[in-house]
Amino acid sequence: MIKVGVIGCGSIATHRHIPEYLNHEDVEVVAFCDIEKKRSDECASLFGGASYQHYEDLLKDETIDAVSICTPNYLHAKMSVDALNAGKHVLCEKPMATSLEEAQAMIDASNQNNKLLMIGQNQRFTEAHIEAKAAIEKGLLGKIYSFKTSFGHGGPEGWSVDGANSWFFDKERAFIGAMGDLGVHKVDLMHYLLGETFTHVSAMIETSAKVATVDDNAVLILKTKSGIIGTLSASWVYNGEEDNSTIIYGEKGILKLNTDPEYSYIFISVDGEVEKRALGKIQTNDDGGQTNTGTIDHFVSAIQGKNEISPNGAAGLASLSVIIKALQSAQKQTIEEVK
Ligand SMILES: NC(=O)c1ccc[n+]([C@@H]2O[C@H](COP(=O)([O-])OP(=O)(O)OC[C@H]3O[C@@H](n4cnc5c(N)ncnc54)[C@H](O)[C@@H]3O)[C@@H](O)[C@H]2O)c1
Repeated sequence: MIKVGVIGCGSIATHRHIPEYLNHEDVEVVAFCDIEKKRSDECASLFGGASYQHYEDLLKDETIDAVSICTPNYLHAKMSVDALNAGKHVLCEKPMATSLEEAQAMIDASNQNNKLLMIGQNQRFTEAHIEAKAAIEKGLLGKIYSFKTSFGHGGPEGWSVDGANSWFFDKERAFIGAMGDLGVHKVDLMHYLLGETFTHVSAMIETSAKVATVDDNAVLILKTKSGIIGTLSASWVYNGEEDNSTIIYGEKGILKLNTDPEYSYIFISVDGEVEKRALGKIQTNDDGGQTNTGTIDHFVSAIQGKNEISPNGAAGLASLSVIIKALQSAQKQTIEEVK
C-alpha cells in the first residue's frame, strides 16, 4: 500500500485528489493538513487518518510515501521542496510555482532526493486529448498550421472553499489569475498535443470583471519553433457556460476537441468528411467530482514504477515560463521570446 498525505483540504483536494485516492485500491490516505483546523479535522473524521494544521508535522511521519500539495499557489514551491527533502513523492497542483527559480528548486529537490515530482496539469489525461495526441503523431492532420484553445468560466468564487474571499483573487497568494488558474493548463495541453514548446508569446491581459489584484481575462498569441501560430484564451468572465475547447488546423483537416457537448472529438477532413467520436467529457467545476481526472491513477502508477511521470517538473516549468513571459509581454506591450 502507498501511504499518502494531503496538504490543503480545500476544493481541489476534496473534489478530486481525496476521492481519487480513496478509489485507488493500492492507496491508503493516512493524513490531512489544513491551516484551517476544522477542514483537516473534517477530512480525518470522514475518511480516517491524522489531522495536522502545519504541513511540517505531517512530513515528519516517516510512513508517508507521497503527498498531494493542494494549497494556494505561493505555497507550492516551499511545501514541495520540503516534502521532497523529507523523502516523499510529490504531486503538486498548478501553477507549480510563482517564479522559474522556485520551479527549478523543486526539480532539483526531486532529482537530489530521487523522488517523483508531478504537476497537476491534468488536461493530458482527458480521453479526447489522448486520442488527439495519438492521431496527430500518426499524421492525421499532416503539417499543423494553427490552433485556438480556450479555458474560461465564471471564476473561482463558485469553486474555492473561501468563495468570493478566496486567495485566487489576491496577487500576494495567487501571483497570477486566470492565466495561472486556467491558461497554464492550456499551455501544457498544447505543448503535449503539438509535441513542441512555444518560443514566442504576445498577450493582452485585463482585470475587468472581478475585484482582484490579478488578471481575470487574458488572450495570448503564441508561436512554436516550427512556426505554428495560435491563440489561447484564459478567462474568468465566461459567465453562464464553461468553454474548455481546442481546435487545431492542419494540412489535412481540422480537429475539434471538446467543442461539442456530445462528441468530444471531431475530425473534419480537407474533403469535408466528418468523423465524430464521443470520448467522454472533460472535467468541469460543476460536475460534482463525478469524473476521474486520471491524475491520481497516473501518479500512483509512476510511484509503482509502471510509467514515467507526466507532466513532470520540466513540463510544469515549460508551461510556467510561457505564462510568466505572457505577463511580461502584456506589461511591456512586446512580443516575448520564451527560452
Ligand atoms: N488541476 C486543476 O484542475 C485545479 C483545479 C482547481 C484548483 N487547482 C489548484 O489547486 C490549488 C488549491 O486550489 P483550491 O481550488 O483547492 O483552493 P481552495 O481555496 O478551495 O483551498 C485551498 C486550501 O488550502 C488551505 N491552506 C491555505 N494555506 C495553507 C497552509 N499554509 N497549510 C495548509 N493548508 C493551507 C486553505 O485553508 C484551503 O482549505 C491551487 O494551486 C489551484 O490552482 C487545480
